[in-house]
Amino acid sequence: MATVSYREASRVYPGTDRAAVNKLNLEIEDGEFMVLVGPSGCGKSTSLRMLAGLEEVNSGKILIGARDVTDLPPKDRDIAMVFQNYALYPHMTVGDNMGFALKMQNVPKAERQQRVQEAAKLLGLEDFLNRKPKALSGGQRQRVAMGRAIVRSPQVFLMDEPLSNLDAKLRVSTRTQIAALQQRLGVTTVYVTHDQTEAMTMGDRVAVMKDGILQQVDTPLSLYDAPNNLFVAGFIGSPAMNLMSGKVVDGGVKVGDYTVPVPRETLAKAPGEDTLTVGIRPEAFQVSDHGIGLDVAVVEELGADSFLYGTLAGLSDEEVVTAQQYVARVGARTAPSKGSVVRLTATPDQVHVFSTKTELRIS
Ligand SMILES: Nc1ncnc2c1ncn2[C@@H]1O[C@H](COP(=O)(O)OP(=O)(O)OP(=O)(O)O)[C@@H](O)[C@H]1O
Ligand SMILES: [Mg+2]
Repeated sequence: MATVSYREASRVYPGTDRAAVNKLNLEIEDGEFMVLVGPSGCGKSTSLRMLAGLEEVNSGKILIGARDVTDLPPKDRDIAMVFQNYALYPHMTVGDNMGFALKMQNVPKAERQQRVQEAAKLLGLEDFLNRKPKALSGGQRQRVAMGRAIVRSPQVFLMDEPLSNLDAKLRVSTRTQIAALQQRLGVTTVYVTHDQTEAMTMGDRVAVMKDGILQQVDTPLSLYDAPNNLFVAGFIGSPAMNLMSGKVVDGGVKVGDYTVPVPRETLAKAPGEDTLTVGIRPEAFQVSDHGIGLDVAVVEELGADSFLYGTLAGLSDEEVVTAQQYVARVGARTAPSKGSVVRLTATPDQVHVFSTKTELRIS
């Protein structure tokens, strides 16, 4: 087991001028499950491949434990990687697939068998060891890929979207299994996904990236409760946070004809800014007889509660920050029908405030 440190680590691909990963600083604790998340092309896989030694680090360095591995070849880094297309060897049995890396390392047969057996037990694959991969389900193949990594008992597991080949239902159950397994093994893990729900449910901490730059790293709840810029605010949470921009007035920020309540102390933190961006999560709206009007276009009844999607009445183009529809969460059996207008007020202590200029958090 080991810590992992990225220190100002950058990767600029040949023939490009923008760094795919730009001065990444990230300290991962021993035994921690760290998730890298962000939109397509933000540099997640590149960051992981730099740690694996599959991609050159152009400046900065990477440490595993106290060891500077920046210039070490992959095989000397004591890591095991699980890829998206976990490419099992089709002609080998499950057992041989799992033990292959050990065979390459000249581990004696008896020990190999024992380690494969242990991993198979852990993963519920004991009955499949003599089968070929094609005779397995997608989820079972995915577990074999995990098994291949586990038998090597590496210092660090690296996983790049290992669940993306599975259907939605299997993905949900497998992500719980992986998180539980990681906890049991206690091996430091760096896990890449573009799916914020996966990130939030699996990670001890989550690192949010955009355009090669780390935006924020924190526990899932802290990211949710205090996103430090507009990008993280809009990216973390599903349905997404409602964002709107408006004039600073006494008592808050005016959007349309509604003043979103913001404490005076918060407004005082942004002197000279006459426009601010406010963020309200769907659950921080209350149906009321005053407030801002939502023209309800879609009602999503989920049983326990409902989401109302639509446009906010009276907002100018400049005031609309969220690209998608605005959304409010309301009680299940009381949902208004689509086509109606509901009035919403924001819970004062749940309003997020950002500088419109710098996009950084103020509240
Ligand atoms: N071999 C390469 N040569 C040049 N540019 C590359 C290369 N590989 C990746 N890139 C670029 O580097 C950036 C980061 O790519 P990366 O694969 O790390 O993104 P990602 O976050 O993993 O995205 P995804 O979610 O789509 O897998 C992208 O802009 C991509 O186009
Ligand atoms: Mg990728």
